[in-house]
Amino acid sequence: MNAESVISRLATKTFGRRIEVHGSLGSTNDEAKRLAAAGAPEGTVVVALEQRAGRGRQDRTWIAEPGKNLTFSIVLRPGLPADRLGVIPLFASAAVASRVSAVCGKPAGCKWPNDVLVSGRKISGILCESTITGTRAASVVVGIGLNVNQVEFPAAIAGDATSIALETGSESDLPGTLASLLGDLESAWRPEDPGWPGAVVGEWTRRNVVLGKLVEVVRGATTIAGVAREVTEAGTLRIETGGGAVEVAAGDVHLR
Ligand code: BTN
Repeated sequence: MNAESVISRLATKTFGRRIEVHGSLGSTNDEAKRLAAAGAPEGTVVVALEQRAGRGRQDRTWIAEPGKNLTFSIVLRPGLPADRLGVIPLFASAAVASRVSAVCGKPAGCKWPNDVLVSGRKISGILCESTITGTRAASVVVGIGLNVNQVEFPAAIAGDATSIALETGSESDLPGTLASLLGDLESAWRPEDPGWPGAVVGEWTRRNVVLGKLVEVVRGATTIAGVAREVTEAGTLRIETGGGAVEVAAGDVHLR
């Protein structure tokens, strides 16, 4: 995969039109944040064939076999107030789920806050990082790891991970998959529309695999157990616990 192989397959106006494809990089989110700080326009994409320090949420490492998967980040400039950015992980996970479902020919589910599952296993993880100036977002970097052609996973995650290749039995073209996904993300990106957060929540809810289920949300030493009831436009998860409704903004959901 190189920049030209992606650009030649793009049907977007801006997403991916500026693109860096690196053989090896620490983290694409770090490089995208550096470019954003230097004024890179919305839609700038950073791809790495290999990440030496790929990051996940909650200080975890993102492990992906070099050259087999998509690990990339997009610079977004939503111009939204900082307290409205929680919808962006929902937007990204719904768009990824839509593409994955189309490619795999089976349902892809959104698991709060921003995982995408197929056959009950994680196929994609998303890490959104914002830079705030005053009360508004100067930029949001959306980092996406999508398991595409990897068919063997380290023992620690083997039971929880899947890939497009494992789900379909065939290899996918990485630049083509990235170009299609960038098209889906651009089509769904309408932050200037006042009705957009509601539409994103609707789309995410349609694809979700957590609402109505008994869950445990773990964040550090705290665990909240109850029935997941709703995801809000702020990106929070409302849980009905024995002691009343609780809204959580971050954590890992375990389905019970
Ligand atoms: C998670 O599931 O915890 C989120 C994983 C996000 C991984 C992607 S890979 C591309 C981008 N660069 C990173 O360092 N992380 C994100």
